Amino acid sequence: MKMAGMVKIQGSTGISTIMVGERLGNLGTYAPVENMVVITDTNVSRYHAGDFPPCKVINIDPGEKSKTLDTVRSIYKRLLENGADRSTFIVGIGGGVVCDITGFAASTYLRGVRFGFVSSTLLSQVDASVGGKNGVNFMGYKNMVGVISQPEFVICDPNLLKTLPQKEILCGLAEVVKHALIGDPELFSYLEDNHKKAADLDRPVTERLVHDSVLIKSAIVNRDERENGDRRKLNFGHTFGHAMENTAGVSHGEAVSAGMVMAAEISVQKGYLGRDKAERIGALLRRLKLPVRLEIDPGKVTDALKKDKKRQGDRIRFVLLKALGHAVVEEISIREIEDNIQAISEV
Ligand SMILES: NC(=O)c1ccc[n+]([C@@H]2O[C@H](COP(=O)([O-])OP(=O)(O)OC[C@H]3O[C@@H](n4cnc5c(N)ncnc54)[C@H](O)[C@@H]3O)[C@@H](O)[C@H]2O)c1
Repeated sequence: MKMAGMVKIQGSTGISTIMVGERLGNLGTYAPVENMVVITDTNVSRYHAGDFPPCKVINIDPGEKSKTLDTVRSIYKRLLENGADRSTFIVGIGGGVVCDITGFAASTYLRGVRFGFVSSTLLSQVDASVGGKNGVNFMGYKNMVGVISQPEFVICDPNLLKTLPQKEILCGLAEVVKHALIGDPELFSYLEDNHKKAADLDRPVTERLVHDSVLIKSAIVNRDERENGDRRKLNFGHTFGHAMENTAGVSHGEAVSAGMVMAAEISVQKGYLGRDKAERIGALLRRLKLPVRLEIDPGKVTDALKKDKKRQGDRIRFVLLKALGHAVVEEISIREIEDNIQAISEV
């Protein structure tokens, strides 16, 4: 069995070391506490501030609504008021929202100061804090403004997950399934065998899921940091997912789960994936208590697809499966997807 440990990304802005199983309490080992500013949200603060190092703390409101340029502006202001200079080390302690904002603020304040993350949600441990994409939403478009800049380190502390609400655990598990499907059939089988322990956040199982996810994502980012090729595979399930998240009012994890089922179904229709494999995907998601189908308004989903950043004219880059653990990226016309949506949503 693979053990928790360290994974490295060699990015264009430097090396990022992701430490699975490391503790928030050891943060001072990796960054100078005397020059440290922590950015976090009020939920994370409420549960975990007792383990923060003695340094300045900037609290933002929790949730996606905070992922704006206004929040970044308020962070710049607080940094200035606190006399933050080029020697300042900024640490984001939180989920994907805190990490995305922290990475962006740190990469742009004074044209860039050093930064790292302590990931506090399953989703950010397996996905959001890894890979160097940092940014905010703008005018209804997700992650529209941002930079690619690697955090010096990411601490994935399993203890932080103990206070996580169930729906946030599900969001993280959906991304683990995605990683298995695009890059690791063994991880998929492991999830099938350990779905109950995975949902209960059993410690060794969780560490394995986080470690393997980080390994899969890091390998892809090491090959293609700027998303010119392989990195697009990480969008598996997300093209439909984002469209449904925006239109069906469901959580990101739920939308990605149903989005993966739809993408697998298109893969079956195109003759790429066996029906039995698509059924295994649906069965695993159901066992993890993730939705495999959502009530959708096809018109609204198509409109949302047209707003997708990955769209080029009337075509969109779409991730399909050729096998469990083997994804390919193909351009499909929005018309073709539109034609399929009704059939897919009835599967
Ligand atoms: N940069 C990337 O590559 C990348 C990849 C995937 C997702 N993302 C981004 O990540 C964001 C979603 O991340 P998320 O799901 O972590 O959301 P989040 O940061 O909003 O966290 C979810 C909720 O959990 C709370 N929370 C966080 N840690 C907690 C803990 N330990 N105990 C109790 N509550 C806790 C938060 O306050 C929030 O209410 C999205 O904005 C998405 O765009 C980025």
